Amino acid sequence: MKIIIAKDYNDMSRKAANYLSAQIIMKSNAVIGLATGETPIGTYNQLVDWYEKGDIDFSEARTVNLDEYKGLPAEHEQSYRYFMNKYLFDRINIKKENTHLPNGMAIDDDAECERYENVIKSVGGIDMQLLGIGLNGHIGFNEPGESFEKTTHCVELTQSTIDANSRLFHEGEKVPEKAFSMGIKSIMQSKRILLIANGEKKAQIVKDAFFGPVTPKIPASILQLHNNLTVIVDKDAAKYL
Ligand code: F6R
Repeated sequence: MKIIIAKDYNDMSRKAANYLSAQIIMKSNAVIGLATGETPIGTYNQLVDWYEKGDIDFSEARTVNLDEYKGLPAEHEQSYRYFMNKYLFDRINIKKENTHLPNGMAIDDDAECERYENVIKSVGGIDMQLLGIGLNGHIGFNEPGESFEKTTHCVELTQSTIDANSRLFHEGEKVPEKAFSMGIKSIMQSKRILLIANGEKKAQIVKDAFFGPVTPKIPASILQLHNNLTVIVDKDAAKYL
């Protein structure tokens, strides 16, 4: 495990973008695993900036995202497909057909999970997986207590997640109660993993996940056993290291 302490959020984002762009420069058709959430927005902005300056070409790159809400179509503002298009895919020269997310509108959960695992296999596995970390140590939608052995699966969201999400939806609109997520096993099969975290609120979980015991109570702790893990944190998130 390599830990890099960045000065601040911008520095963390630039360093993460450097890793991702180096991967794409070394292998133009690299498969990059992507995350949504607040943490990677700066990284995506940096990649867009370098693309606009002519420093990175995404024309052959392929991506697979970690997760998607069940029941949300791509056009829904809260869907992860919408997020990815908005912050990255619509702003670079990646071919949309090379960008993959679970299909939130799939009816048959098991069939969708199997399809998505097959997508990951068919592109040859993930060369570099970008991850954020939840305050409770979750990665993707793998919440504390989930088995480390799971591949892509359908997750029942906890009531607190549903409640927290409800502010993002219009009145009367149904808030998703389930999501599709890569499992810990799918994530661990990536060739390289890059986890980013910023802000004081992530300081405790960064310490527990990477300097404490490996336990399903803290899903990200399993990453300690990956043979090519880089963790980039800003100074605030590194407070207890
Ligand atoms: C999103 C995802 C989540 C986030 C995590 C941190 O695709 O996989 O596990 O990485 O919830 O979210 P932020 O970055 O908003 O703190």
